[in-house]
Amino acid sequence: MTDVRSWQVPGRVNLVGEHLDYNGGPVLPMAVDKHLTIKARPRDDDQVRVWSQFGTATFTTSVQPGEVDGWAALTAGVVWASASAGPAGGVDLVIESEIPDGAGLSSSAATACGVTMALAELAGRTLTPHEVAAIARRAENDYLGVPVGVMDQLAVVHDGASLVDTRDLSVTPVEVGWGDAGLSLVVIDTNVKHSLAASEYAVRHDECVRAAGTLGLTWLAEAGPDAVLRFDDADVLKKRVRHVVTETTRVRGAVRAIAAGDWSQLGTIFTSSHASLRDDFEVSCAELDAAVEAALEGGALGARMTGGGFGGSAIALAPTAMLLGLREKVVAAFADHDWTPPTLFTVRPTAGAHRLT
Ligand code: GLA
Repeated sequence: MTDVRSWQVPGRVNLVGEHLDYNGGPVLPMAVDKHLTIKARPRDDDQVRVWSQFGTATFTTSVQPGEVDGWAALTAGVVWASASAGPAGGVDLVIESEIPDGAGLSSSAATACGVTMALAELAGRTLTPHEVAAIARRAENDYLGVPVGVMDQLAVVHDGASLVDTRDLSVTPVEVGWGDAGLSLVVIDTNVKHSLAASEYAVRHDECVRAAGTLGLTWLAEAGPDAVLRFDDADVLKKRVRHVVTETTRVRGAVRAIAAGDWSQLGTIFTSSHASLRDDFEVSCAELDAAVEAALEGGALGARMTGGGFGGSAIALAPTAMLLGLREKVVAAFADHDWTPPTLFTVRPTAGAHRLT
């Protein structure tokens, strides 16, 4: 198996800036040390064979939208979207992942970006991180029909935390120093499987497009604080606009807090972001709310759901010395409700997608 090459791609958490990436706002995701590995070997024919934890699938390099569904549709979408970058031959792909599936940690973006890199490099092409992200996003938007933004793809192809301007797609690295201050970032996976395709994600996307239209804006994140006054209290769009406007301000505040090492301020921003996602954008769920509340009771400086919502994970910034107590609080809160126990683990910034061998 000498001609097998491999790539490693991280998952991501979003520190703050939720549901802003399809609204032209700033987002602050971070590549984290839960990875997936793609192994790829060229074939002499036009077959694409994929092995993953979900099973095996086979299709051809000329696969079209609608021809593959289920877990392999994403890989088929990448093969289809990659055709725009040039012809590619058949390939055997093995996807091994330690990024929990459906946890809101971007296992889809990691898969799509890793497969994009593998296909390009086997065909002798090197893509820029932005080109990888664009192809991977197109697979989700145009093959799967899920209108995701570009945050997750850009997050997993860049190192560590990044401030991403989703209007001009500039990516600025952000050093996060909370570890030196004795703090850890904890992921609380609620084990409520989130699925963007099956959630109201597309509904929120449409609501934002409609609100921007009402305001005469291309991007809703361009709206100023007065924009909410243009909507009746009874109009659900008012709440959606308020989330986008306040979340945009929170990202700016978070960048300042991180630069200043003001971790209690960053925590406060996390927690108010969660309240906005729960009450105004309405993308949280009972388990995420309970995880956030219990983490705060357990000593976190702040906590919030991360990613698309409707299940998945919360993050909490907490003193490392208090992690055991925090875990107990969160596990007890879930037990009180008879919910499936949550999974907690700490994450650190890590390298973006890269070739391993
Ligand atoms: C999902 C999508 C992203 C982004 C987030 C919400 O992770 O894939 O594009 O919209 O939800 O911030």
